[in-house]
Amino acid sequence: MAAAATRLGSRDTVPASSTTAPAIEIQGLRKTFRRGLGARHVALDGLDLVVEPGRVHGFLGPNGSGKTTTIRALLGLVRADEGTMRLFGHQVPEALPDVIRHIGAVVESPQFFPHFSGRRNLRLLAQTAGVKRRRVDEVLEIVGLHDRAKDAVKAYSLGMRQRLAIAATLLKEPSLLILDEPNNGLDPAGIREVRDLMRGLADGGVTVLLSSHILAEVQQVCDSVSIVSRGRHVVTGPVAEVLAAGASGDVRVRVEDAEYAATVLTEAGLPVRRDGELLIVSDVADPSWITQVLARRRLFVSELTPIGADLESVFLDLTGTTPVPGRSGQVGEPFAAGLGAPPRTDGKPPPPPRHATAGPAETPQRREADNDGQDRA
Ligand SMILES: Nc1ncnc2c1ncn2[C@@H]1O[C@H](COP(=O)(O)OP(=O)(O)OP(=O)(O)O)[C@@H](O)[C@H]1O
Ligand SMILES: [Mg+2]
Repeated sequence: MAAAATRLGSRDTVPASSTTAPAIEIQGLRKTFRRGLGARHVALDGLDLVVEPGRVHGFLGPNGSGKTTTIRALLGLVRADEGTMRLFGHQVPEALPDVIRHIGAVVESPQFFPHFSGRRNLRLLAQTAGVKRRRVDEVLEIVGLHDRAKDAVKAYSLGMRQRLAIAATLLKEPSLLILDEPNNGLDPAGIREVRDLMRGLADGGVTVLLSSHILAEVQQVCDSVSIVSRGRHVVTGPVAEVLAAGASGDVRVRVEDAEYAATVLTEAGLPVRRDGELLIVSDVADPSWITQVLARRRLFVSELTPIGADLESVFLDLTGTTPVPGRSGQVGEPFAAGLGAPPRTDGKPPPPPRHATAGPAETPQRREADNDGQDRA
């Protein structure tokens, strides 16, 4: 895949209303869908989101938490009931005609002509958008499809189609790229390719909003993240900070006589549990204290590792929900045994959601049923 950074320099700048304007700024976004028999469903419940320019920002939330609805509202594909949205300081949807050419988005699986080659598909799109023909080969190079450009799209793998979709959005040289679950259905190699592509674009100055319910994906590629749950914002920050906020304070200790060491540490007042050959010591303010206590009894530590929180446990702590592969419609659903969700590995009970005004838990809904609802737009 070619270095995207070198090829994005010619992008003309967005007409920012202020040089410091965030790429995306959403306040108090509400959207209620009508479903059959007069039932209503609150998809967005006062959602806030700020994405600073020039970075890859993760938009993370369980299935049904409102990510796609937010993106569709931003792009004028669905009308919000309330709230304000700005792209580079311009209020949307009103100013969309002015800013849309600076925005690239892959929201639903884009349709290409399957019998046409990747290059021909892009040429058609370029022609419609008034983009110079040579840009087609540039974007094919950026997404690493140049060598397969003459093949029919029907012969492309899912990952290649996804890259072609991203190539299509790059035709206009966007300043902001919005990708809704770009890794859906991709194998690890495809995920890696899309990840490298996103990084390359961000290094070239493009702001990327990546929506996902896959924690590891956000952890690996994003600089910052916003977590949403039930149509509300839960937390935003640099990925490292969001993780640090959930740091457990536990320390993993490897020592030869683990049983004796456990007794010594317990006598010293530290909560200890065994994990195979290892000890997990909790509530440790200063890990060096563990080494001192054990060394006094001639027990020498060969490993001392603070256990940092992964995004999964932070996410779970913050939202009270967790994504479960192969299941959907788990918005606000309690994380409990018997519902098919995996148990917490730390043995703690699931915490209640931290947001103040959490409504009653929804029952699981099938997505097909969800999508039968009528859009009020
Ligand atoms: N057109 C629609 N009609 C009725 N309900 C809808 C419609 N679009 C979305 N919803 C509902 O709004 C809620 C939010 O859906 P949305 O697709 O925004 O979630 P999401 O976070 O993108 O989920 P996923 O991770 O599964 O893609 C869901 O309960 C969904 O069923
Ligand atoms: Mg979605």
